[in-house]
Amino acid sequence: MTPLPSGSVIGIVGGGQLGLMLGEAARALGYRVAALTDVADCPIAAVADELVVGAYTDRQTIGRLAALAGVVTVETETLPAATLEALAAEVELVPGAGIVLTTQDRAKQRRFTAGLGIAVPVHRIVASEEEVEAAGRELALPVVVKRATGGYDGRGQVWVADRAALVAAWRELGGGTCVIEERVDFACEFSVIVCRDRAGNLAFFDPIRNVHRNGILRISTAPAEIPADSAAVAREFAFRFAAGAGLVGIACLECYLLEDGGVLVNEVAARPHNSGHLTIEACATSQFEQLVRIVAGLPLGETTLREPATMLNLVSEIDEDALAALAAAYPGRAFVHRYGKAPRPGRKLGHVTVLGSNRVRPPEARPGCEIG
Ligand SMILES: Nc1ncnc2c1ncn2[C@@H]1O[C@H](COP(=O)(O)OP(=O)(O)O)[C@@H](O)[C@H]1O
Ligand SMILES: [Mg+2]
Repeated sequence: MTPLPSGSVIGIVGGGQLGLMLGEAARALGYRVAALTDVADCPIAAVADELVVGAYTDRQTIGRLAALAGVVTVETETLPAATLEALAAEVELVPGAGIVLTTQDRAKQRRFTAGLGIAVPVHRIVASEEEVEAAGRELALPVVVKRATGGYDGRGQVWVADRAALVAAWRELGGGTCVIEERVDFACEFSVIVCRDRAGNLAFFDPIRNVHRNGILRISTAPAEIPADSAAVAREFAFRFAAGAGLVGIACLECYLLEDGGVLVNEVAARPHNSGHLTIEACATSQFEQLVRIVAGLPLGETTLREPATMLNLVSEIDEDALAALAAAYPGRAFVHRYGKAPRPGRKLGHVTVLGSNRVRPPEARPGCEIG
């Protein structure tokens, strides 16, 4: 494709922080941004040249975005199928609706990745009481029950240690399609990001190590310092996913590293990912710029990690004193990103990336705030 001329409009569906950072990257490359969101007061409003506010299911709202942008990407996968199909009928969607529909549903995603021969945790997909009971007999406890749709940051999941409590846990999650899986005793978690353009060219961000607490990502570090053989396996899984899905765009594979060096893929998101935020300052091209380049038909950028980095999420509330202490400890090397969101327990409000070390320890935050 001929590259989208500078000044053209790129459409983004969704108004969260991923859209904000995507919008920043688009503008830095000389593009304008039209965003479709269901709430006017949202992170992307800070960078969008045009904000289309309306329900994601509303045909007219979708039509307004399509009138502004010929090519559109999505920053959230929790979009109704009707929205994706309506969009795909009017604009070029990057990634395609099919991939978003597969990855937005944990059960479909699992079937798809496992079907490609990608190693995944031991699991069962269940949709009835009988299937839940069978899973309880077949799987080793404890297990985690995950709702197929709508979960994020550990929400929509329940851990169960007692077989007798399994059906109640499934009901608590709404009693619909769920993935029940065995606990993985991983050595660590890491992620890889794969990028694929329309011509099938591939790029890859090397593994980033991740630490979660209560299901929420807290700390990401690069280099991940995992065995080279394990990194190679993850890279092969990522390329297999990208090619198998016919991906145009970027996808993040959340992986578990096992004690024996084995790799399991926990989940895949076909969009920029929280663990990739450190690529903004630490890599030659960020995950956001890379997606914009793909959307705009520009050549893929260099993904090399220029220096070690640590990313700390700012959760629940932002502690300015702790951030100031961090800035003082790493002068000129701590880059704070604020998403402009109202504080709320468990909510990601921003992040800080520190360059020069993948061993930065989060500073003590006052109660109610969480750094890393
Ligand atoms: N089967 C499992 N074994 C061990 N830890 C798990 C398992 N499933 C989830 N977790 C932990 O919870 C985190 C969030 O779960 P995940 O399935 O990635 O859901 P989300 O969509 O909320 O990110 C994981 O990154 C991991 O730390
Ligand atoms: Mg996850």
